[in-house]
Amino acid sequence: MEQLVNQITALKEEITAWNGGDAETFRIKYLGTKGLVKTIMGEMKNVAAENKKEAGQLLNEFKLFTEAKFEDLKAAAHDSPPATHDAIDLTLPGDNLPLGSRHPISLVKNRIISIFQRLGFAVAEGPEIEDDFHNFSALNLPENHPARDMQDTFYISQNPDWLLRTHTSSVQVREMQKGKLPIRIICPGRVYRNETISARAHCFFHQVEGLYIAENVSFADLKQTLYFFVQEMFGATVKVRFRPSYFPFTEPSAEMDISCLICGGSGCNVCKHTGWVEILGCGMVHPNVLDNCGIDSNKYTGFAFGMGIERITMLKYQIKDLRLFSENDLRFLKQFTSAV
Ligand code: DAH
Repeated sequence: MEQLVNQITALKEEITAWNGGDAETFRIKYLGTKGLVKTIMGEMKNVAAENKKEAGQLLNEFKLFTEAKFEDLKAAAHDSPPATHDAIDLTLPGDNLPLGSRHPISLVKNRIISIFQRLGFAVAEGPEIEDDFHNFSALNLPENHPARDMQDTFYISQNPDWLLRTHTSSVQVREMQKGKLPIRIICPGRVYRNETISARAHCFFHQVEGLYIAENVSFADLKQTLYFFVQEMFGATVKVRFRPSYFPFTEPSAEMDISCLICGGSGCNVCKHTGWVEILGCGMVHPNVLDNCGIDSNKYTGFAFGMGIERITMLKYQIKDLRLFSENDLRFLKQFTSAV
């Protein structure tokens, strides 16, 4: 009998201090068919006859005690939310997403736009999938014109007349066709060429094209506009020169060089020891182009220019490989945010 009393006392202490798991684990251990309550009940047969009444009361009271503990455990589990891994804490702060940075091409594009906006140029945009007329024919580049060779592009298989524009000059055409004069616009945008990708060429790049059409616009206006642009973009000490060139859509045409930003004009690898680097093409809009777009070429004249944004960016920051712009490497891209 004494042994039974001791056993029950020890078990009660154990149960009071229970932290061995949830209510179900407790039930299996103490109240299940092979549980300790059942086992200790089995001790009855070893109790002497004169003690049986007292032992029965003790065991019964122990059983009730254990069942009460089981009910407590169940109630506690019901009151507190399940501590499972998919519990959601709405008060937790969100995850920090790493911030990207502005792309150097966008930074330089915005800078170019703001310089020309100060001269009264508005921004015009057009589609990247163009038709032959807007990209070539209207610009005095009829079918089989040899200058088309320099601008091989990607054609859309559903319609042989559709192509990815090779320059943003197509936006000039769209603006001229609207017939609202004078026109003073710049056209930034992405353009495409069928080129093998290398450090100096890519199958897509970005251009800013400019167009000014009014009465009495002259080559002097063109020169002064571009001179202002260069000073604002590269600084007051940079020199400018124009070389005669050929574009089907301008006459006369020129290419504009700036003095080398690395050596200041004395000659180095970047300028191939000439002291000059080319930055854009320009000229007076060809009368045929004005006529093709419904503008009276006897009354109006205009100038146009076009530049590659990658080229300007590479010169400004001395970047040697065009492919860096499309590799999405943040270590490269983040270097320019505070620089423009
Ligand atoms: N569209 C020419 C190109 O992509 C660049 C250009 C040259 C544009 C002269 C012009 C211009 O408007 O007058 O190579």
